[in-house]
Amino acid sequence: MSTQSPGERRRVRVALDERSYDIEIGFDTLPELGEAVARNTGSQRAFVISVPPVARRYGAKVGRSLREAGLRVKRLEVRDGERSKSLTEAKRLYGALLDAGADRSSVVVALGGGVVGDLAGFVAATLFRGIPVVQVPTSLLAMVDSSVGGKTGVNVPRGKNLVGAFHQPRLVWIDATTLRTLPPRQRAAGMAEVVKHAIIWDAALFERLEAEMESVLALAPGAVLPVLERSCEIKAEVVSRDEREAGLRMLLNFGHTVGHAVETLQGYRGLLHGEGVSMGMVFAARRSEEMGLAPKGTMARIEALLRRADLPTQLPDHPRKAYLQAIAVDKKKRDARIGFVALSGIGRAETVPLLPREIWPAGRRRSRG
Ligand SMILES: NC(=O)c1ccc[n+]([C@@H]2O[C@H](COP(=O)([O-])OP(=O)(O)OC[C@H]3O[C@@H](n4cnc5c(N)ncnc54)[C@H](O)[C@@H]3O)[C@@H](O)[C@H]2O)c1
Ligand SMILES: [Zn+2]
Repeated sequence: MSTQSPGERRRVRVALDERSYDIEIGFDTLPELGEAVARNTGSQRAFVISVPPVARRYGAKVGRSLREAGLRVKRLEVRDGERSKSLTEAKRLYGALLDAGADRSSVVVALGGGVVGDLAGFVAATLFRGIPVVQVPTSLLAMVDSSVGGKTGVNVPRGKNLVGAFHQPRLVWIDATTLRTLPPRQRAAGMAEVVKHAIIWDAALFERLEAEMESVLALAPGAVLPVLERSCEIKAEVVSRDEREAGLRMLLNFGHTVGHAVETLQGYRGLLHGEGVSMGMVFAARRSEEMGLAPKGTMARIEALLRRADLPTQLPDHPRKAYLQAIAVDKKKRDARIGFVALSGIGRAETVPLLPREIWPAGRRRSRG
């Protein structure tokens, strides 16, 4: 359907006054990263933070590109996985950066998925009260979601993402070629957030995905580029209008209330975030129909698309009480309303304040029925 050539580039502007930046999207663009970093930061010193599966494949290329652009480069690695998003790792990185002579004009280059982006972003946000960061996302989730918007942070024993800072990157550099080595299951999990963007904001993107889901997942350049571009545009637009999560940005939580509850109940074992979101979106679509907000058939369309991406759509079997508790998160807030994101149709979302027991009414079957 699409006719873009592999050499084509896309640029999405994130408009945030003096903190505005570009998201550059293309194929085989890592060799040009260094120049863009130099241009956008003026830095002479770069610290590339990554994890072994990504550093092994792309670290040398990124290092070379930065050096060719005149920067001095130091590469740092953290262990792969969510557990590295910790204050312990942040502290270790502060030490490594300071020992190597980092100063206020140094740039942190986050090369990896959302874990690297959040951790390296947090270190950049806090070292010297903030030094430049360039996001080089290599997972689909990081490309369309976590690298855009400026949220950085780490986990603490009491919960995920409880410590963090807003720190907008100077540049987001997406080389979609890196997706070729991303495990298929991770690819699908990132696709859940792409589908989410379409559902809350853009019926045309949803239709494009309905037409081309298999080609997008197979990374056909003509299919991938426009989808990455549109998905980043949606995130950028929402973030530009609501940088600090006052209202509009809440819509990005579509599918996440129940999605997070599932993650909690599964103890984060064996379930990827995007998989929980996939189930949560089907749940939210169904509730939207039941509340008379969305037309009949909305959920079926969403579920069919998610299934084509190989995503799970049925919630696992836990007692209603367990779901209610997980939705309320904080037990003291059991009687507080939660901003539940509902649909009035595909491409149109709104926030409805609901009690957990209204989100999950008694007698409602766990999955579809
Ligand atoms: N800051 C935000 O706004 C925001 C938004 C959404 C999610 N997040 C955070 O993002 C994190 C999840 O991100 P994620 O799903 O990218 O997880 P991740 O960073 O753990 O990456 C998933 C896996 O894929 C590997 N990988 C990444 N790119 C690869 C590539 N090109 N080739 C081969 N392997 C590759 C990673 O090493 C890892 O094993 C969570 O911590 C979540 O809280 C943040
Ligand atoms: Zn998410």
